[in-house]
Amino acid sequence: MPTVSLVVLAAGQGSRMQSDRPKVLHEVAHAPLLHHALNAGATLEPARIVVVVGHGGDRVERSARLWGEDVRIARQAEQKGTAHAVAQARDALEGAGGDVVVLYGDTPFITPATLARMREARETGAGIVVLGFEAADPGRYGRLVVDGDRLERIVEFKDATEAERAITLCNSGVMMGDAATLFRLIGKVSDDNAGGEFYLTDVPALAAAEGLSSHVVTCDEAETLGINTRAELAGAEAAWQGRARAQALADGVTMHDPSTVHLAHDTVLGRDVTLEPNVVFGPGVTVESGAVIRAFSHLEGCHVSDGCVVGPYARLRPGAELDRAVKVGNFVEIKNAQVHEGAKVNHLSYVGDAEVGARANLGAGTITCNYDGVFKHRTTIGADAFVGSNTMLVAPVRVGAEALTASGSVVTEDVPDGALAVARAKQQNKDGLARRLMAKLRAAKARRTN
Ligand code: UD1
Ligand code: CA
Repeated sequence: MPTVSLVVLAAGQGSRMQSDRPKVLHEVAHAPLLHHALNAGATLEPARIVVVVGHGGDRVERSARLWGEDVRIARQAEQKGTAHAVAQARDALEGAGGDVVVLYGDTPFITPATLARMREARETGAGIVVLGFEAADPGRYGRLVVDGDRLERIVEFKDATEAERAITLCNSGVMMGDAATLFRLIGKVSDDNAGGEFYLTDVPALAAAEGLSSHVVTCDEAETLGINTRAELAGAEAAWQGRARAQALADGVTMHDPSTVHLAHDTVLGRDVTLEPNVVFGPGVTVESGAVIRAFSHLEGCHVSDGCVVGPYARLRPGAELDRAVKVGNFVEIKNAQVHEGAKVNHLSYVGDAEVGARANLGAGTITCNYDGVFKHRTTIGADAFVGSNTMLVAPVRVGAEALTASGSVVTEDVPDGALAVARAKQQNKDGLARRLMAKLRAAKARRTN
């Protein structure tokens, strides 16, 4: 098998998105559309990867490099059509040889299995392989004109006759072929058509004229979904979530109401994880086997170990690391903090830039005051410590192992191991004063209403 290189077209403006953001940087499941396309293409283990950028080129380039350092960038200054776009990748592919596969940056759901089938078609002798699909509503898609299993040509909607418009087998835009052949044929493409553009879709007819055969590999229409509008983006998100939830259920995750759970592209859920309704995952979350995420919790960039119970109404932010059997309860926010085995933060707390020792218990309303307005500071809480309710831990500060803080304390100094810290005003009781005060006030009110 020849090597294959990947060309992802991402120069278009996407004006129908009504957005300042380049279309391919809009996200599905917290990953840019562009990354979805790159992930699919990467499964072919491409020798080179080229992203063709144009509109918002610098931003698209940055995002592409974030995905992979060795991605090459080709610039298409003016969007003169899909063939013109692919032609811009020529220099970046110099000397790579082998095959080229063209994907669109706004088409996130092409599956690895489909790309593998296109590779097989190449192996069995097809000169050019085009990915087609039976469209429920063919609309403005390019139509595939076939003769048996041969693809004669692709006709764009704008240029199609009534009879051609009646064809339901449509062009997805994905094309594969030998690099040298493809670039030679692209060199022959003209812009003499209704759109005044250089169509990549002219390639199969040009191939046929040279006696080269083109073939169609088909896939489910859902795979070829391209995003042009916010409504389509929302539809793509829903479709992605539906598949991801089904996969999670198949993998042994319990969900009480799957349709209310939102996953991210990289969410990792172990077997026997339970997700209650309305749990939302941002990127970068791993939840290990047996953990329970209770209703209305929001997790991103965190790790939850087995035996943990999180929520309801908990928020785990980036860098939250929960060891085994940790409990995080309602209205608790944890950020950039390691919480060791068996520790409990059950009610109304903020724990940020901190380390919480094993079996420590943080009472209701415990807050790590980690930010002085300029710098962030760390709080360390030892194993088996007991932090009283409404304790303010003014970082940098350390509460020792087996130490105790009195409720309502504002702790600004380290507490030694095993010590009790009391950092609040001392209580005074004035005998009978409450009754006397109230009697005075009631008397004043009675005078006023008379
Ligand atoms: C294209 C196909 C059509 C197919 C449809 C599937 C052509 C001529 N037509 O039409 O047969 O059914 O996709 O969705 O190929 N792009 C560039 N530079 C350009 C032009 C486009 O990078 O100069 C990129 C766009 O950003 C987009 C992709 O190529 O990601 C497709 O371009 P678009 O203009 O949307 O093509 P369609 O008209 O949808
Ligand atoms: Ca399109």
